[in-house]
Amino acid sequence: MLTPQLTRRDGALFYENVALESVADRFGSPCYVYSRAAIEANFLAYVEGFAALNPLICYAVKANSNLSVLSILAEHGAGFDIVSMGELKRVIAAGGDPAKVIFSGVAKRAEEIEFALRQRIYCFNIESESELHRVNAVASEMGERARITFRINPDVDPKTHPYISTGLKSNKFGVAHGEALRLYRLAASMPGIEVHGIECHIGSQITELSPFVDALRRLLSLVDQLADRGIAIAHLDIGGGRGIVYDDEKLAPMSLFAEAVARELGDRNLKLLLEPGRSIVGDAGLLLTRVEFLKPGETKNFAIVDAGMNDLLRPTLYDAFHPVLSVQDHPGNALTYDVVGPVCESGDWLAKDRKLVLNEGDTLAVLCAGAYGMVMASNYNTRGRAAEVLIEDDEMHLVRERETFDDLIAHERIVK
Ligand code: LLP
Repeated sequence: MLTPQLTRRDGALFYENVALESVADRFGSPCYVYSRAAIEANFLAYVEGFAALNPLICYAVKANSNLSVLSILAEHGAGFDIVSMGELKRVIAAGGDPAKVIFSGVAKRAEEIEFALRQRIYCFNIESESELHRVNAVASEMGERARITFRINPDVDPKTHPYISTGLKSNKFGVAHGEALRLYRLAASMPGIEVHGIECHIGSQITELSPFVDALRRLLSLVDQLADRGIAIAHLDIGGGRGIVYDDEKLAPMSLFAEAVARELGDRNLKLLLEPGRSIVGDAGLLLTRVEFLKPGETKNFAIVDAGMNDLLRPTLYDAFHPVLSVQDHPGNALTYDVVGPVCESGDWLAKDRKLVLNEGDTLAVLCAGAYGMVMASNYNTRGRAAEVLIEDDEMHLVRERETFDDLIAHERIVK
């Protein structure tokens, strides 16, 4: 199994000590299920792996923003990387500490900046000169100084899917490496700004170490050049975390990742920040879905399930691979299926060419769906978003109710 929390006992799939069939029976389908133990283990892997550097680990809320998930991480002392006022409000509602929050994103609105300043967050990660002016203006108006970091675009190829690579010149993110010195000087001259850090985020689902190291080197050379010009940088933020194993990816161990970062930092006096999302929650969650119909075709067999692209968009959007398992093993002939959803789009698929023994009515578990799953769900086809359940040892807790039709139309009006 991909994670120790997922086991098969007498043919039945268990998450921690709960049979997944009983989750679908109790809360219906489709349903996202998360394992507390897996989330904690993933977070602690960073804490322990990087212990020598004592970093602030800011969980990227965008990966999974369920309040219970945030609360587990807050309990363990996590900081949070947010991209909107909504995410900051979630962190606060979940008991997170605003003093450990960094605010990323290319287009922060003035009201979001003001709210974040009032909450006394740790830092704003600035992505353009215009944004620097806006943060300075809002902070000055409030008689405050905003701590800032520039997100540097290091122009490094992360070797991942083009939609989730962010550190190339051709991407919209960050300020160009060549512009950084000028912008830091400008920022240092502004009354509403306190220059504090330097950041980069080159992409997501990165499995190799070398792109991180290349980006880090480019950042550290800037830190040194800034120091020569009298601008001291207090923290260095290396952006999102490692990739995860969806299929047969080979990941460098966390200890090697940490050692590589430590080696590059050398004896510079820099506080380290990390913004992992996927690697904290990705393999700590799965999507349960039931087989509605088996439809043999001339060239393909289809298993039509009750979860669709509106529930889990990653396969449609990125051609992403998610393992699929039967929740209850039973005898029979394995056939090759495309697992597809009920949405009226040919792109509505969850998995292709999988060997499965299936009957109509079976429950399937789509694995590694804890990150960028529920957060990217939509109401397309007027489908309510799935329920979310948290497993803790032998208990299951509903942590988000399934959306009802009334929820979906709550903000609509008929004009007569
Ligand atoms: N920091 C920043 C500024 C980010 O933009 C992201 C992710 C992260 C941290 C977290 O990166 P991670 O540790 O999760 O790799 N929806 C896509 C992934 C989009 C990632 C966006 N940024 C997917 O489903 O693969």
